[in-house]
Amino acid sequence: MSRYTIAPMTPHRTGAEIHGVDFSCPVDAALKHEINADFARYHVLVFRDQKLSAAQFAAAGENVFGPLLSQHHKDVRATGHPEVFEIRNTEVAPGEYRINGGSWHTDHSNHPCPPRATLLHTVTLPSYGGDTQFVNMHLAYDALTADMKRRIDGLKAIHAWESRYTPRKMRKLSDDSAMALPPPGVHPLVRVHPENGRKFLYLNPVRIDGIVGMEDGPAMTLVNELIAHATQQKFEYRHKWKMGDMLIWDDRSVMHQANGDYDMKEVRYLYRIMIEDDPKHWMAEGEKTWTAVAA
Ligand code: SIN
Repeated sequence: MSRYTIAPMTPHRTGAEIHGVDFSCPVDAALKHEINADFARYHVLVFRDQKLSAAQFAAAGENVFGPLLSQHHKDVRATGHPEVFEIRNTEVAPGEYRINGGSWHTDHSNHPCPPRATLLHTVTLPSYGGDTQFVNMHLAYDALTADMKRRIDGLKAIHAWESRYTPRKMRKLSDDSAMALPPPGVHPLVRVHPENGRKFLYLNPVRIDGIVGMEDGPAMTLVNELIAHATQQKFEYRHKWKMGDMLIWDDRSVMHQANGDYDMKEVRYLYRIMIEDDPKHWMAEGEKTWTAVAA
């Protein structure tokens, strides 16, 4: 018998809404286990009615989902909480606003060992808009033709900090942050999810810079075909934020994007943390180190 209520947000079971968990209270091992099992099943979970400080949010994320991963940008940390990143629409030049994550991507895939998950918690929301969209990369893989599955089997993509082909310029890294960048990650286009055993496409339009052993032209044509396929609306859950939401997504089995479609005079402000993955999930079979190439 579940200790909370859960309701799928889409017919294809991408996203589920949970009531009845309070992350300001301790979460025991049995509850943790139940939440993580639902996370592997639904890929995006939204816990309603939370009211957490940055410290409580970070503590709950770490306790329930695992150790925190530090963020690329070391200059956008919540005051006093280096592990918590602030997502906030920011005016960078008169009338020009920066929207974090405003095109399809998955987080930090340029790392040899990218995150397991990312969490957001609302601080301030605009009166309309600012949804976050998610596409289910298991469904995208399953819907590929047999021929395409054969073509991409065994191919590995190179994930740079900023792809030469990115649709969105990345924000400039501070010197500190740039020093801490690892070499590009090299990851199979098709991976098996360590917790639910299903195959998924692992793509990132802002970071994939090529495919190992292929010329750039045909490699990027293939990548773009896969991205267009994966971002179809039929694979999507679109999250409409409510105050009190704490949302987690699986950085392996979904891609996501933020929408900057609200009045920029209003504030959209969320806390963000990322959860480490187990490095052994990212090691090629038989390898002792992460699969990475020098820049
Ligand atoms: C992100 O891409 O991490 C931010 C998503 C959002 O603000 O909705």
